[in-house]
Amino acid sequence: MTSPVSAALRQRLGIALPILQAPMAGVQDHRLAVAVSEAGGLGALPAAMLTLEALRGELQALRAATGRPFNVNFFCHEPPAADAPREAAWRQALAPYYAEAGIDAAAIPAGPGRQPFSAEAWAVVEPFSPPVLSFHFGLPAPELLARVKRSGAVVLASATTVEEALWLEAQGADAVIAQGLEAGGHRGHFLDVDLATALTRQMGTFALLPQVVAAVKVPVIAAGGIADADGVAAAMALGAAAVQLGTAYLLCPEATTTAIHRAALASDAARHTALTRLFTGRPARGIVNRVMRELGALNPAAPAFPLATAAIAPLRQWAEQRGSGDFSPLWAGQNTSGCRAVPAGDLTRALAARV
Ligand SMILES: Cc1cc2nc3c(=O)[nH]c(=O)nc-3n(C[C@H](O)[C@H](O)[C@H](O)COP(=O)(O)O)c2cc1C
Repeated sequence: MTSPVSAALRQRLGIALPILQAPMAGVQDHRLAVAVSEAGGLGALPAAMLTLEALRGELQALRAATGRPFNVNFFCHEPPAADAPREAAWRQALAPYYAEAGIDAAAIPAGPGRQPFSAEAWAVVEPFSPPVLSFHFGLPAPELLARVKRSGAVVLASATTVEEALWLEAQGADAVIAQGLEAGGHRGHFLDVDLATALTRQMGTFALLPQVVAAVKVPVIAAGGIADADGVAAAMALGAAAVQLGTAYLLCPEATTTAIHRAALASDAARHTALTRLFTGRPARGIVNRVMRELGALNPAAPAFPLATAAIAPLRQWAEQRGSGDFSPLWAGQNTSGCRAVPAGDLTRALAARV
């Protein structure tokens, strides 16, 4: 028993089940996307951390492995100007850890770590005729978005407030992903990025979802804290046309989630997640670890997104070599109860069992 709006969205996306696998940069490649798409959901390929060459390779592998629809996902942030004093202050805050690890801070290169969507990226993606593109942190500039839409791709984008959902609809998004505060990974907020006020506007999924459904005409996809078939059915009862899940897929064998991250997800530590700026500069939800506890998860000293990544990366590498997640972004949503080490296709079918 599904709503006409859900049936229409599934038809437009070319999928049998109202289940979208959330794109998750850093913990998956085309294999997870293929498994979900083959099961009748919509698999996603996250492009934010890929070079253009790597992106082309992933798209080739994905296309070779499935003829089913898939989603290619990009970030749409405004790259910040380099800020040398802030970078220096941040490295100063990390200095005790560099000393502990024997890392020469002067030898750590600065750099962004994540690239926004661009005309160059579209030139790589367009020949693969992706059926769906999704965007986090807003949308591409109007001219580039128009080119994407002219290709026939369905455009999805994340909204974390009613205002963002209305903005995305007005700019031409074909469906809106309502991302509740429970969600793992980066908050997708983009209209208000001021740290002091932005997070106060964020809502839980089941507060945000019905308000977005009431405000926009386009279909709404629910995301954040949904972990099983009951949660999927509940979101659909609140008006969602489909559901997007990330955390639930993290233990699947097709994901590239590290052993350290998998162990944290399967442990009691997963009951305590928090939003943190320490790993990239933008608030993102992950399992609380040593560096979050000691520096404060939202420490304002971390440089603007995505520049905070460079300085902490060698500490992560050092700790992980010792089997520790003390400096790793252990991205996870608030509800890890659905994390199972089962094939992603089986999980996808199980998630759709009640809709
Ligand atoms: C490990 C991880 C990485 C993520 N990376 C991305 C990403 O690259 N692009 C994106 O649009 N969303 C990303 N997200 C957020 C998801 O799109 C989605 O909002 C979230 O997974 C939904 O909440 P849930 O994790 O509770 O299911 C990520 C989430 C996780 C858990």
